Amino acid sequence: MKVQENISLRPYNTFGIDAKARYFAKFKDIDELEELTTHGSRLTTLILGGGSNILFTKDYDGFVLKNDITGIEELHEDSEYVYVKAGAGENWHHFVLYCIERNWGGLENLSLIPGNVGASPMQNIGAYGVELDDVFNSLEAYHFHDKKLITFTKADCEFGYRDSVFKKKFRDQFVILTVTFQLRKKPIFHTSYGAIEPELERMGVKELSIKAISNAVINIRTSKLPDPKLIGNAGSFFKNPVVEIDKCQSLQSKFPGIIAYPVAGNRMKLAAGWLIDQCGPDKTGTSWRGFRKGDAGCYEKQALVLINYGNATGKEIYSLSEEILLSVKEKFGVILEREVNIF
Ligand code: EPU
Repeated sequence: MKVQENISLRPYNTFGIDAKARYFAKFKDIDELEELTTHGSRLTTLILGGGSNILFTKDYDGFVLKNDITGIEELHEDSEYVYVKAGAGENWHHFVLYCIERNWGGLENLSLIPGNVGASPMQNIGAYGVELDDVFNSLEAYHFHDKKLITFTKADCEFGYRDSVFKKKFRDQFVILTVTFQLRKKPIFHTSYGAIEPELERMGVKELSIKAISNAVINIRTSKLPDPKLIGNAGSFFKNPVVEIDKCQSLQSKFPGIIAYPVAGNRMKLAAGWLIDQCGPDKTGTSWRGFRKGDAGCYEKQALVLINYGNATGKEIYSLSEEILLSVKEKFGVILEREVNIF
């Protein structure tokens, strides 16, 4: 366990932003974490997982601690579920594949999401009709100041759309150490989300399996979303906004192509990608999609994803996001919220 000074965080964030950390260290268990937090107790601290949902707009003048807790353990099973505990530092997709190989169902729709296990409950990751919430059992987290290990049940986490207590009332208070999942021994297939069935058909799948769904999701994601290993990005930059039903109806009458889905509370969720796609940098009708200014850009196949072509700064990406936000506000009167954490 080594503390480094003034190191570049470029390898530790999928946006590939070259910001510096004043101090940096990795921990692989709770004892190392305790030692580091005692050592750096007067510094502001940032816990980093896979760095796949973060944008550094400046150097971090504090202590960056990278969570490297690994391990996957089958705890027990009952008639319906296998309970599997994974270290927060496990790569998410590696964990998904591990479970699929053992035919434990529930994670297949969440294949290929970048990042680590520890971040999954933080923002209740979701894709293709499934959210973390659906497979979550409990987690263990360490309270920085009380220096205590606490177990959170599903109810304790108060999951919402890309949301949990760790983004709200307990923000910056806990370090997630392990997550326990409940995975189905007899999988229930979720194929109703738009693109999945056509992809399964294209693949010529005769007998549905979690492996086939995982492969379909991998194909869809690869065709639509940029691979962070090749091009810097943090997935969806904004959340899909939720609006009141009358606001949605008035938008629908003005913009018949708008994409909207009903959600709880008699409200509607709008596809932010579509909204952004309809706006652009000027009044010529050019879309943000495919736009590039310096090395900051908006992905050509999915307007919700901002990208770093190489040497963009976090400030440049942020200011592009600000321009996009303003243009959407101006055209649709809808205020987008960033999904990515800004530092
Ligand atoms: N669309 C456009 N133009 C665009 C992008 C999208 O018209 O540039 C339209 C699409 O044609 C589609 C609709 O918008 O009809 C929704 O697009 P898509 O199915 O790609 O999903 P999304 O709402 O853009 C969400 C998640 C993704 C997740 C996908 C699939 C959020 C913020 N994003 O994207 O999650 O993979 O659904 O379930 O909820 C992430 O969080 O990082 C992420 C990638």
